[in-house]
Amino acid sequence: MKIGCVSIFPQLIEAALGEGVVGRAVRELVEFELVSPREFASDERRTVDDRPFGGGPGMVMMREPLEGAVDCVTERLQAALPVVLLTPDGERFDQRRAEAMAQSEGFILVTGRYEGIDQRFIDDRVDVELSIGDFVLSGGELAALVVLDAVLRLLPGVLGNADSTKDESFMDGRLDYPHYTRPSDGGVPPTLLSGNHASIDAWRHRKALERTFRKRPDLLLDRALDETDRRLLNELFQESSREREEGRQKG
Ligand code: ADE
Repeated sequence: MKIGCVSIFPQLIEAALGEGVVGRAVRELVEFELVSPREFASDERRTVDDRPFGGGPGMVMMREPLEGAVDCVTERLQAALPVVLLTPDGERFDQRRAEAMAQSEGFILVTGRYEGIDQRFIDDRVDVELSIGDFVLSGGELAALVVLDAVLRLLPGVLGNADSTKDESFMDGRLDYPHYTRPSDGGVPPTLLSGNHASIDAWRHRKALERTFRKRPDLLLDRALDETDRRLLNELFQESSREREEGRQKG
């Protein structure tokens, strides 16, 4: 996989990628190129932003240094990769998108400051705008690292156990089931200690659905439900209606 990253704070990206499984993935499994637009500034002070036409607060990132940096990354990676801009205006980044990106040939992440990037750069050079949530960060670097982490941990060989991304939250439009480890004294659901794998699977399936129903019912809206799930959800729904009713009576 080939990944490019364009940032005026390359040290921030490098520092975060120095550690952990994702750092190792970048060093060992990915062809990674990190370039600062400052290298493509036309003046001695390496200016990358300027005042906005029409006035107003804040500075706007100039198109040329950004274009220079994207071209440089493209040249070094020898591939025409989609350019992804991190911005709160973008489409919401989620697990589905992470999976698609993990299966792609690669991409170039471009980070900037939110107040402004010259719109002509976005119109001419950006293929996808992605947001990591409805809040505004001071720059796209942390958002780019979030995307990198979510994508790279899905690559085969990055996590120790190939199965460990299979069952977890959001992989199937639902949250993960609860986990327990030693000591086994009290509080561990007996099914998990039973050694009966069919019962354990059924228990986990039910708990995952229950957690999703209680914490993130919105996730169930775009999920295909089979007969068992529908039955479980029906039970959960009745249970929660009963609880609400009891709460009302208590006052
Ligand atoms: N840059 C600033 N805020 C952002 C956000 N929420 N998502 C992605 N990029 C950003």
